[in-house]
Amino acid sequence: MSGLTTLITEEQIKTRIQEIGAQIRADFGDEPVWLVGILKGSYHFLSDLSRNVDGEVYIDFMRVSSYGHGRATSGAVQILKDMENSAENQNIVIVEDIVDSGLTLTYLLKFFEARHPKCVKVATLLDKPDARIHPVKIDYIGFPIPNDFVVGYGLDDAERYRNLPYVAVLRQ
Ligand code: IMP
Ligand code: MG
Repeated sequence: MSGLTTLITEEQIKTRIQEIGAQIRADFGDEPVWLVGILKGSYHFLSDLSRNVDGEVYIDFMRVSSYGHGRATSGAVQILKDMENSAENQNIVIVEDIVDSGLTLTYLLKFFEARHPKCVKVATLLDKPDARIHPVKIDYIGFPIPNDFVVGYGLDDAERYRNLPYVAVLRQ
């Protein structure tokens, strides 16, 4: 018994990312767009999303930590790896795997604003609106989901299951 129940299939993810990619391009016209993936959880989403935004697209990564190895937030956000390029006067799309309490994203948005980008938007594959503690505006949401612990397509449970090509609920 694996304890996994499929929540979002590979096919559903693929279709939705095509839609979000087209929406991002439409919103930015023909301007360059920086997709900034938040490691590690966003790596599949960033990869697939980047292939669905036409035109001038640039990639960078950040790594932040708010969870350690537990399933509940520790309340503190730390930058473990910064962007390697300047965000100043650029169109930035923060690419997240999931927005849960909203703590990570609230912190990241404050961090980016201080760097004077031209524009900052947020794309997340998954959103748990019922778990929100820190209200935050999200521009592109793949799928709103219930407040269950999910894994797969980049999301982990103590580093396991990131390789699954779909999203599943992990029975606690
Ligand atoms: P937030 O700061 O509470 O919004 O949490 C964001 C981060 O917590 C995400 O980027 C994930 O790394 C992690 N996280 C939140 N919910 C889940 C889940 O259901 N499965 C796996 N990781 C999660
Ligand atoms: Mg994350």
